[in-house]
Amino acid sequence: MDGESTSGQNWPTMYDFSQDRLGPLAWIANCTELFDFKTQTYRGQPVLTFWSGEVLNGYGRGSYYILNESYVELVHFQANRFGSDMGEIHEFTITSDDTALIPVYHAIPWNLTETGGIENGWLFENMFQEINVETGETVFEWNASTHIGINESYNSLPEDDAAGDHLVSARVMDCIYKISGEDGHIIWRLGGKRSNFEIDDDAVFAFQHDARWVDSKNPVQIALFDNGPMEDIAYSRDLLLDVNSDTKKFTNAAKTFATFEGSMQVLKLSDGNMNYLVGYGSQPYFAELNAQGEILLDVQFGKTNAVNCYRAYKPPWLKKPFTKPDTECESWVVYTANSSDSSTWTTVTTARRTGFEATIDLDGVQLDAYVRGKAVNGSGTALGWAQASNGEQLFDARENVQQNGSVVSITASRTTPLSSATCSAATGSSTGVAARATQGSMESLYTAAAVVAGGLAFV
Ligand SMILES: *[C@@H]1O[C@H](CO)[C@@H](O)[C@H](O)[C@H]1NC(C)=O
Ligand SMILES: *[C@@H]1O[C@H](CO)[C@@H](O)[C@H](O)[C@H]1NC(C)=O
Ligand SMILES: *[C@@H]1O[C@H](CO)[C@@H](O)[C@H](O)[C@H]1NC(C)=O
Ligand SMILES: *[C@@H]1O[C@H](CO)[C@@H](O)[C@H](O)[C@H]1NC(C)=O
Ligand SMILES: *[C@@H]1O[C@H](CO)[C@@H](O)[C@H](O)[C@H]1NC(C)=O
Repeated sequence: MDGESTSGQNWPTMYDFSQDRLGPLAWIANCTELFDFKTQTYRGQPVLTFWSGEVLNGYGRGSYYILNESYVELVHFQANRFGSDMGEIHEFTITSDDTALIPVYHAIPWNLTETGGIENGWLFENMFQEINVETGETVFEWNASTHIGINESYNSLPEDDAAGDHLVSARVMDCIYKISGEDGHIIWRLGGKRSNFEIDDDAVFAFQHDARWVDSKNPVQIALFDNGPMEDIAYSRDLLLDVNSDTKKFTNAAKTFATFEGSMQVLKLSDGNMNYLVGYGSQPYFAELNAQGEILLDVQFGKTNAVNCYRAYKPPWLKKPFTKPDTECESWVVYTANSSDSSTWTTVTTARRTGFEATIDLDGVQLDAYVRGKAVNGSGTALGWAQASNGEQLFDARENVQQNGSVVSITASRTTPLSSATCSAATGSSTGVAARATQGSMESLYTAAAVVAGGLAFV
């Protein structure tokens, strides 16, 4: 996620939907500006991978990281030749040879007269490097300004079809190219100004992301996230393009418009059917839909216009944390007050900590403008206080406060999403205590959860 600083959601985040369709937070890393966070296989083992570095205007400069199932870094590496910080955000794919495919944007002097520009101009070109992860050396390199050498194994997108051809998506061309793995020539164009296909009016896409082969022949199927919008369609959607025949469209209930980023993951089910996981890029939603386009899951995980997520994935992942959570927190006491720096806080309720996150039902409870939590251990000793939250932001709040009212009862956790407060405990924090509480009803549970997640650190 790449939220505004006040959103507290700038970090890679995993939700666990295996037990519970509310998808409690499962893992967060305390590092900012991270892209294409996903699971892959490296040297035969499941790993977490991501890019981390400095995000610039639509691109980035940084390095690539691989963690094992215990969240321990196995290796990190950088791009070569144009400066070690030139690794770019948009792709990080480990190949079956355990090398990595990464993009690099770099500027080269270019004669722009043919395109109406100046003679001594610059071309900001996209190139790709295949890196030997262990030695950091370049195995292969391909650049877009010269269409040669593509048959040597490499392209911007990891997928190639059975014939070794490549799919390249150019967002600002509204076009997807099928490029020959033999000689790099363009076999066909789908979309854009020179499309080789007639595209149904309602399947025309624009500013797309994440184009992937689903099937490269019989039928040719391509999945993509269509950022849009087009004249008649004011929202973003996923498209499953059956080149030559049918088109399927998928969207979430909110009909979100994502101006940038976004993803479509095809989930192949054991019964042979497919579901689709739509990530709404610049807006904090993802949704899972079945082949009929019915919504199975529709999630908002952050505040609208404040938090974005480049791509959302639903992979199987076994958590094998290397370290135990180092908090002794067993329960939370929830307090409320009218100002974040109030010296007097009124007790609302307590709840037993049930996991990484505990949602406490506050239905019907009168809350003041600010809410916070206090972590308590098994013998009832206070371990520390959370920052205060108004459901939008976190605020530093004093710990030495007068506590009014007595604890009423220990309530069940994780009930209805709305009008609930959430408290979280952090593993790996230096004090062993970190907790956040916020009123869920201010925008939605997910905003609350977002704020909750925000201040925490997990390594
Ligand atoms: C991850 O790496 C650490 C450090 O080498 C190791 O102790 C741990 O067992 C590894 N975890 C897994 C699941 O392989
Ligand atoms: C730049 O390209 C134009 C058009 O192709 C050509 O006429 C001109 O000589 C080129 N300039 C240089 C310095 O190569
Ligand atoms: C781009 O690739 C071509 C062919 O591989 C190579 O000759 C050229 O030097 C490359 N350009 C840059 C800027 O690396
Ligand atoms: C790659 O394509 C070039 C240009 O068509 C050709 O000369 C070369 O033999 C091809 N190499 C391989 C390995 O196919
Ligand atoms: C998260 O990382 C930052 C920068 O390394 C550090 O200053 C901060 O204390 C960390 N936060 C927690 C809760 O560990």
